[in-house]
Amino acid sequence: MTLKDQLSKLVGEAFVSEGLAAELGAVKPADRPDLAQFQCNGALAAAKAAKKNPREIAEAIKARLSKAAQFSEIMVAGPGFINLKLADDYLAASLEEGGEWKKPAPEKIVIDYGGANVAKPLHVGHLRAAIIGESLKRICRFVGDDVTGDVHLGDWGLQMGQLISELEICQPELAFFEEGAAGPFPSAPPITLADLEEMYPLASAACKEDPARADLARKATKALQAGRPGYRALWRRFVDLSVEAMRKDYDDLGVEFDLWKGEADADPLIPELTQDLSKRGVIEESDGAQIIRVARDDDKKEMPPIIFLNSQGAVGYHATDIATIVDRKRELAPDRILYVVDARQRLHFEQVFRAVDLAGYFPEEKLEHLWFGTMNGKDGKPFKTRAGGTLKLRDFIDMVTEKALERLSENGFAEDFDEKETLDVARKVGVAALKFADLSNPRTSDYIFDLDRFMAFEGKTGPYLLYASVRVRSIVAKVQAANAGEPGPVSIHAPEERDLVLMLLNFGDALREAYQKRMPHILCDYAFQLAQAFSKFYAACRIIDEADAAIRASRLSLAIMVGERLGLLLDLLGLEAPERM
Ligand code: ARG
Repeated sequence: MTLKDQLSKLVGEAFVSEGLAAELGAVKPADRPDLAQFQCNGALAAAKAAKKNPREIAEAIKARLSKAAQFSEIMVAGPGFINLKLADDYLAASLEEGGEWKKPAPEKIVIDYGGANVAKPLHVGHLRAAIIGESLKRICRFVGDDVTGDVHLGDWGLQMGQLISELEICQPELAFFEEGAAGPFPSAPPITLADLEEMYPLASAACKEDPARADLARKATKALQAGRPGYRALWRRFVDLSVEAMRKDYDDLGVEFDLWKGEADADPLIPELTQDLSKRGVIEESDGAQIIRVARDDDKKEMPPIIFLNSQGAVGYHATDIATIVDRKRELAPDRILYVVDARQRLHFEQVFRAVDLAGYFPEEKLEHLWFGTMNGKDGKPFKTRAGGTLKLRDFIDMVTEKALERLSENGFAEDFDEKETLDVARKVGVAALKFADLSNPRTSDYIFDLDRFMAFEGKTGPYLLYASVRVRSIVAKVQAANAGEPGPVSIHAPEERDLVLMLLNFGDALREAYQKRMPHILCDYAFQLAQAFSKFYAACRIIDEADAAIRASRLSLAIMVGERLGLLLDLLGLEAPERM
């Protein structure tokens, strides 16, 4: 149970003894932390309902609680607030349980947080989904859910047809294009990743400008989806090449997927689903296409129908998402699916969620689109390179690593490091700066990319947090090397110790809130506050040269706990801490 839950239960019992509802006992962190640690406003609500004087009720609750060992002081303030000061012994003893929170009924969850299209290098647009999704995955897992992270590659649909027809124009002599050829084909078509990356923008521009090219692309897409062997072999090559490059980028970002499936994996289900949907009366024909109407009478905005199969019989992004839900249901039987995809796709997911609910495949309320805002440049528009292009993720990682290297050498951290360690630390610090900056804003807000600010060693930044965690660990190592004794039971002697203990105990509440709201920034705030509480504690309280062995042992325990907690927080946020920096 979290500290807040324990206290709410206790105060709730006092309300029940007064013949009032237990829920009135809910406590929250005090508005005036200088006066008390927690407060309960239940007397005001109770008074309204019972038409009584709130101060009287508050006094009665105070009297009921006066013998409880958990409180050192209970004060009735203002119109009837109950301010609660906790007893040091109770605080210290509560640390045994650590104030953790685990989810009462864990679920089986799939998180879909990649969504990158193959054949295009990853770019900054893919950054937020990866960073937020990775953290949410870790948070869900930590509270007890059984979580599968799926990259859900964009490997199907029109862009594949665009690429195939582009290649056919450039290299028509390749065996893959022979009409009716059934293979076998040379296993690796002579295309490199560089070729692909070059072809992609050319192909999509050509299709935009030239209707004839767009038509070719559509036909190629249809033939690919119908299983034409030469096209399939090319497609396989495109996917393999991109996946290899993506894995490296995601790896450097500290992002790991359990599943590397894609839209194409759902394709075999389409014929069966088309039939089933029409049997269920969910799908209908309109101008040669198969559509699903998802609008409802009470819709306040426009809700266009889904095109499940276009008039050429090819599937798009809606159909593959629907089929993927069915595929996941069969393969993994999840209770819930989370989609970490940007805000522009809100309509898309609303349509898809409604459609699968209509069909009885998956309940709408168990599908969540956890959309996020945009990372903007200083001009307030989506972040671009100086030349106005999109920045590749690889170049982005190099850029933050370089900046970290600069910072680290200014600060003189890197002096006795060899080159390998220096680079490794710089990458970790750079990536942590970026990830923390991204996560520390509420998921749904836009934010401005400002590398200098992200990279600062002071303030609420990734580098500060990494530094704090490295420092705590080195303090613990120093104490242990000085033979200053073993860690022992925690006792509170100084206000800074009290604040630190309270901060450690607040973890469960922060975790629960971050989990329930799907908002990692709550853990960023908590981590920053904990690091600050530790630094105040360490400035005020001696450890090695504290004469009292019991106090020394208590302080060592606190430092160890903070070290472990910061380590856990970094892990939940997906940040990698170097050994030293
Ligand atoms: N590939 C899509 C795009 O480029 C994003 C996919 C997100 N995930 C999903 N299940 N639809 O826009």
